[in-house]
Amino acid sequence: MSDGKQGGEVRGWLRSIEVFSGPLPEFAPEQAPEDPVPSLPVLASDAVADGLRDPHAMTLSTLDEAGDPDARVRILKGVSVAGWQFAGHGFSPKGRQPAVHPRAALTFYWP
Ligand SMILES: Cc1cc2nc3c(=O)[nH]c(=O)nc-3n(C[C@H](O)[C@H](O)[C@H](O)COP(=O)(O)O)c2cc1C
Repeated sequence: MSDGKQGGEVRGWLRSIEVFSGPLPEFAPEQAPEDPVPSLPVLASDAVADGLRDPHAMTLSTLDEAGDPDARVRILKGVSVAGWQFAGHGFSPKGRQPAVHPRAALTFYWP
């Protein structure tokens, strides 16, 4: 932080930042479909209609060669029953890691 906040000051400052400021859309997790793929285009277009920028930006979490977590932001290029598509250099960490540990998590933040 540019003004040099430290320790407890940072904690207090972080906790003072407004979060989940309304109005929030209604969401009933128990009614959400088990499989997010069919509803993703609908949810994404609703998000765009609500003014959200880059709804197709997502955090891709993988495991590195040592099994430690790694993550970065990617643009979703396609989604279907066949899987989730994204692009990047195959020799970068995100390209190499899935070859060693073929598991990943995708996180979207759509306020
Ligand atoms: C909004 C946003 C979208 C991004 N989309 C991509 C993308 O589609 N493909 C890509 O290779 N990197 C993308 N990046 C850059 C990656 O997040 C990352 O910094 C870079 O690819 C290095 O990742 P790696 O070292 O884990 O391989 C994006 C970054 C941002 C902030």
